[in-house]
Amino acid sequence: MPKKIRLGIVGGGGDSLIGVLHRVASHINDNYQITGAVFNPDFEKNKEFAEEIDVPLDRIYTDFDTMVAEELKLPESERIQVFSILTPNFLHFPMAKKLLENGFHVICEKPMTTSLEEAKILAETHKKAGTIFALTHTYTGYPMVRQMREMIKAGALGKIHKVDARYYQGWINPIIHDKEKRNSVWRLDPEKAGISSCMGDIGVHAFNMVEYTTGLEVESLLCDFNYLYEDNKMDVDGTVLIRMGDHVKGVIRGSQVATGEENGLAIAIYGEKASFRWEQEKPNFLYMMSDTEPTKIYKPGHAYNSEFSLDGTKLPAGHPEGIFDSMANIYLGVARAIRGESQNDGAYPTMRDGVRGMSFIEGTVASHKNGNVWVKVEG
Ligand SMILES: NC(=O)c1ccc[n+]([C@@H]2O[C@H](COP(=O)([O-])OP(=O)(O)OC[C@H]3O[C@@H](n4cnc5c(N)ncnc54)[C@H](O)[C@@H]3O)[C@@H](O)[C@H]2O)c1
Repeated sequence: MPKKIRLGIVGGGGDSLIGVLHRVASHINDNYQITGAVFNPDFEKNKEFAEEIDVPLDRIYTDFDTMVAEELKLPESERIQVFSILTPNFLHFPMAKKLLENGFHVICEKPMTTSLEEAKILAETHKKAGTIFALTHTYTGYPMVRQMREMIKAGALGKIHKVDARYYQGWINPIIHDKEKRNSVWRLDPEKAGISSCMGDIGVHAFNMVEYTTGLEVESLLCDFNYLYEDNKMDVDGTVLIRMGDHVKGVIRGSQVATGEENGLAIAIYGEKASFRWEQEKPNFLYMMSDTEPTKIYKPGHAYNSEFSLDGTKLPAGHPEGIFDSMANIYLGVARAIRGESQNDGAYPTMRDGVRGMSFIEGTVASHKNGNVWVKVEG
């Protein structure tokens, strides 16, 4: 049994949304040991949380720069090997850049940076570093998403006609109508979130899902945002028309004010021979529709699934796995990459996904600002 990979965490404290998902996911396949962290910029809170979850206090640091400096003093056999960056968006770029420059592997939350320019700089840094970089587009880890990707690659849908992806949430509705409340949320603050709220936070997941499953690239887009209030600087809803070449067209719809919606990421891919429909809130059901046969439902863990899909299932069919397992599959891909083991293409989202995502986000903002015009998605 190979030794566990030493994992460092920055952000993702006890007060955070995403920390628990990464901590649990990193443990699911027994590949990682959380060795050090700055969970929180407040050192007392940082230590309190480390004690709560049993991370040794001698590897809990006052801040990120101190953590990097102190870890570099340790022999390689003890040093943290890979860091997960789970902070608000504006810290992803400087932290990831510094870690790559110092020879660490990086697992980074999305959106990768706050601008396309930063994303391109990070891609250059990564090329020079030669270490592993993974971006946690969590939903690509679901077995049924991987099944869609593999079946589309094998031609199951024939020529694709249309893609319809949506990511609807409602959590900003109780916040947006109160000026004080909306000024207290980092996702609505361009200094911390970057240039977009809805497309930057969730639209980018839908965009990634479109490219991940179809294997096609979005070439151009046209976007219409809703800000709801004149003084609100960030989009909280948007509709994006997309063109993917050779008469493949589609739409990406995002909203954070779709009242009552929870985490409604869904995708439909319509092809000449058949179509797929999948919803994140029911991730273990993949619907395949056609003109000639009744609708089929693919489910995880059955031998009829692709090897890549089955690789992401741990229990026999009928034992529902979910979001923690999906993220765990991404951590598994990173562990194999760190160990130099061969694995499926698409085992974890990469730097390329990060650059494409930032190009999408900037494209939506530019399109809306310039009067809902078509813009190219580069990268
Ligand atoms: N992959 C997904 O599906 C998914 C889901 C939710 C959030 N996210 C991403 O995860 C990131 C964090 O989101 P969240 O909702 O958990 O945010 P959050 O505000 O709930 O938590 C942020 C955490 O970072 C810590 N932090 C802030 N500044 C820090 C610093 N300088 N050093 C160390 N720690 C610091 C805070 O103390 C807190 O624990 C965001 O980039 C977000 O886009 C991704």
